[in-house]
Amino acid sequence: MAQATFSFPRGFLWGAATASYQVEGNNVNSQWYAWEQDSRHILNGAKAGLACDWWGGRWREDFDRAAESSQNAHRLSIEWSRIQPAPDRWDEDALDRYREMLRGLQKRGMTPMVTLHHFSNPLWLEEKGGWENAESAAHFEKFTRKVVEALKEYVSLWCTINEPNLYTTMGYMLGVFPPGKRDLRAAYRVMVNLTRGHAAAYRAIHAIQPQARAGMALNYRSMIPMLNWSPLDHWVRNALAYQYNDLFPQAVKQGVVRTLLGNVKIPEAKGAQDFLGVNYYTRDLVRFNLFRPGELFGERRYDPKAELSSTKFLANQPEGMFDAFKWGLQFNVPMIVTENGMEDPDDRLRPRYTIQHLHQIWRAINFNWPVKGYFHWTLVDNFEWERGWTQRFGLWELDPETQARRKRPSADLFATICRDNAISSEVVAKYTPEIFEQMFPN
Ligand code: FCB
Repeated sequence: MAQATFSFPRGFLWGAATASYQVEGNNVNSQWYAWEQDSRHILNGAKAGLACDWWGGRWREDFDRAAESSQNAHRLSIEWSRIQPAPDRWDEDALDRYREMLRGLQKRGMTPMVTLHHFSNPLWLEEKGGWENAESAAHFEKFTRKVVEALKEYVSLWCTINEPNLYTTMGYMLGVFPPGKRDLRAAYRVMVNLTRGHAAAYRAIHAIQPQARAGMALNYRSMIPMLNWSPLDHWVRNALAYQYNDLFPQAVKQGVVRTLLGNVKIPEAKGAQDFLGVNYYTRDLVRFNLFRPGELFGERRYDPKAELSSTKFLANQPEGMFDAFKWGLQFNVPMIVTENGMEDPDDRLRPRYTIQHLHQIWRAINFNWPVKGYFHWTLVDNFEWERGWTQRFGLWELDPETQARRKRPSADLFATICRDNAISSEVVAKYTPEIFEQMFPN
């Protein structure tokens, strides 16, 4: 059997990603909490509840799990609604708790990446119209200043806003995230304000901490025309890909938000990106369909040959991650995979999904493309937004009732890769023998 090793550069960041609302529990001041109270909003009427009980202190045991698994980094988010429960009130105790968590990472030798906005808004902001409100960016800047001042001793890698593209699509076009709108004009207002908020946060971070690195994390969806010979499929693929993948990073590159409804100049956004966070999960085939005006005439589906996750939410398409990096090069900043993973309760597909995606990173690095780290989504099963508890993305399984954790084989697989800073043929032979030939052709 072939012996080989795909090695990663020294200093590569290896970890898992989490988000406050999904893991902390009892975030009663968030708009998501209010949204959950209507049982029609979340699959099976589920609630986040205690989530992974990190606010109750279980982050300690979960950080131990990560550290013992050779992860050298962790991406977590700060819950705005805890730090600023009312526009004129800061909760210093909450800031202390985050300080303690970050010290916990430091003690375990793990580099933190801190996200300032991961889908969750304070209820008071939502009641003022959320990110549709022209003042939202200024509010976000104030919150950012407070957090960066308080935590700068522990953090120098910041993610301003997580997936502004998915947040806008889900909340303002598909209506499945709060505030549940289907309103293109509102969506564009939100896109403009999120860009302003990102720029303001970026500038604030650098004013307080000049050596910091800050960037946004984008949900990159790989898309290819269903019929390669069809000009209409190409056209609709390009239109959708622009709207979903390009709009935000282009706005930051050019200082202009370009939308179907017009352009808005935001000069302070220009160049406000030290790295691009890439959240990559899957790839779509796109076909022109006149009967889908709500989807901008683009019907999307998975390649019928692709393996699907347990609820058919994702297709295993590792080459799409390579596309993401190739596309990301145009922004001339380092890239970090800020999320990648698969919902897979039985850990049937996750081992090969993980290895195949990491292999694409290795390929990109061998072209000298600047990919600097990888955060797996996620450490422990957690609350999956409008899909509730139906999707299990964790390296560890969680029983939300008893809070018991159980390690999935992928956790050990990932630990070995993190420890070795490499994918070895031994690891592939042990965990995913079915793809050995493909990974190490004789
Ligand atoms: C991403 C989100 C993250 C999680 C994963 C599965 O879009 O950023 O919070 O829900 O999907």
